[in-house]
Amino acid sequence: MADFTRKDVVVVQAAVCLRDAGLQSRVFAPSTPEYDACKESYWSRTAKLTPTCVVRPRSTAEVSVALKALVRANEKFAVRSTGHAPGAGVNNIDGGVTMDLSLLDNVQYNETNETVSFGPGARWLRVYREVQKHGRIVAGGREGQNGVAGFLLGGGNNWLTSTKGWACDNVITYETVLADGSIVIADQDTHSDLFRALKGGGNNFGVVTKFTMSTIVCERIWGGVATSSKEYVSDAIQLASDFTESLSSHPNSSLIVLIGYIPDMKDIAVVTGVMETRGMEKVPIFNEWEKLPKITNTAKPKTMLEIGTETTQPCDRYNTWFTLTIKNDKGIMAKAVELHEKLVEELKPLIPAGDFGTQCVFGPLPALVGTCSAAAGGNVMGLERITSDAILVQMNTMAKTAEQMALVQPKQRAWVEAVRAHAATAGGDLGWLFMNYADSSQDVLASYGPENVKLMKEVSAKYDPQGVFQTLCPGGWKISEVSL
Ligand SMILES: Cc1cc2nc3c(=O)[nH]c(=O)nc-3n(C[C@H](O)[C@H](O)[C@H](O)COP(=O)(O)OP(=O)(O)OC[C@H]3O[C@@H](n4cnc5c(N)ncnc54)[C@H](O)[C@@H]3O)c2cc1C
Ligand SMILES: *[C@@H]1O[C@H](CO)[C@@H](O)[C@H](O)[C@H]1NC(C)=O
Ligand SMILES: *[C@@H]1O[C@H](CO)[C@@H](O)[C@H](O)[C@H]1NC(C)=O
Ligand SMILES: *[C@@H]1O[C@H](CO)[C@@H](O)[C@H](O)[C@H]1NC(C)=O
Repeated sequence: MADFTRKDVVVVQAAVCLRDAGLQSRVFAPSTPEYDACKESYWSRTAKLTPTCVVRPRSTAEVSVALKALVRANEKFAVRSTGHAPGAGVNNIDGGVTMDLSLLDNVQYNETNETVSFGPGARWLRVYREVQKHGRIVAGGREGQNGVAGFLLGGGNNWLTSTKGWACDNVITYETVLADGSIVIADQDTHSDLFRALKGGGNNFGVVTKFTMSTIVCERIWGGVATSSKEYVSDAIQLASDFTESLSSHPNSSLIVLIGYIPDMKDIAVVTGVMETRGMEKVPIFNEWEKLPKITNTAKPKTMLEIGTETTQPCDRYNTWFTLTIKNDKGIMAKAVELHEKLVEELKPLIPAGDFGTQCVFGPLPALVGTCSAAAGGNVMGLERITSDAILVQMNTMAKTAEQMALVQPKQRAWVEAVRAHAATAGGDLGWLFMNYADSSQDVLASYGPENVKLMKEVSAKYDPQGVFQTLCPGGWKISEVSL
């Protein structure tokens, strides 16, 4: 009883500053339907923490009012848009205020400029539906339920990276609420330092309330997802490697290779995702992929909206994601797969089949992606420093209960360390880390290189001199924690 009362007082204190600022109808305490809806809507159970209250602004002006009130009252807070980031404490906060931007979900195509603007609460499917009316696509999420904001602030790996760079390279303007509550538009010419820092720099600089992106003429893409049995693992590695090498001559094509323990199949399988941006079938770069024997295959001409719908992944599990980047080297990939098999064998006796899943993903990252980013004006991710073709590796795990995840996670971490160590002996650990696939313990911002770290530190000092986004908003990867 005493504890309940104390907790209640904390709730009131956090909410009072927001209420005093005129946001009483936007603040929700635990056990209200709105608070529960916010909690429910996180993609990963791991991310479902318990904030003291949730504030759900309905406009940029309300974001500004909320931020000013929280800073004045020295309240800790988290910023979340659609809550797709899998880890704990990145997009949510225990014992602080969660600013939920999911109601800022307006999407608008501008015919004069052929650009699309959207709020941070939008998901890629909404954006695809809107631009499709005008025969266009954008370089957005492969998984359509994914939120636009965290995706773009972390760079955004997408089907079009070999021609358009990261998704953030396609952003033309950011409307951002700074720590002092002021609202600025950052683009190539105005606040160009902030503009650049937002391209991969995460939540270090402000709350983005509107993004404007360029669009691409495209009626139909060709693509889909296929499953093959585990006996084709080495063919899949060969495919990933050859495809990465060929991308510079066929940049409109895209491939992703996943080797994982699939809960529904209760076995390891190979999953491949393919896409061709002009909707062309039987493009030669896919010859080897065509030959891979398949159990299921959805590849055909379709829309971005369709492929974004079919790649949706189940939510409400415990999830942990880790990443690393290696040279395009079949030997390293083979070692990663061998260690993955060992990991699965170790987990099988510990967790009932179907209650856990793994995804060891190899994403082609040809040197040309860095060139595309540079051509588009640049970002802070620093990938252009890597001049060899690379493979972006993801190791994702899921489990049904927190207890099961506690068994999985240490083995997953050990896998990452072992693969990195093996890659290093082969001169193939490239050291670069992709924010959207990283665990919060991974040193993402330092991996962008000293020049980008220096720029992000300068932008943080200029636009947030009190370090609000470093101390009051602790979630995510913080530039103040990186030493030069
Ligand atoms: C099934 C699945 C598939 C995915 N596929 C891909 C993929 O193909 N490519 C890829 O790049 N990523 C992918 N991701 C990762 C995903 O892009 C990130 O998790 C992204 O952060 C989700 O965006 P969100 O808006 O939901 O962010 P949230 O989870 O709401 O927030 C993530 C981070 O961004 C910050 N943030 C969010 N909104 C704002 C804002 N408006 N202003 C300032 N900071 C903000 C938060 O504080 C937090 O640190 C995938 C994730 C899932 C679960
Ligand atoms: C569309 O873009 C044009 C050119 O920048 C601009 O003048 C106009 O206001 C925009 N329309 C909307 C609805 O934002
Ligand atoms: C919109 O188009 C006009 C005219 O071409 C241009 O001057 C302006 O910069 C564009 N705005 C954006 C946001 O692209
Ligand atoms: C990629 O597609 C674009 C247009 O969709 C086209 O102009 C370009 O020539 C293509 N590139 C190659 C190498 O085929």
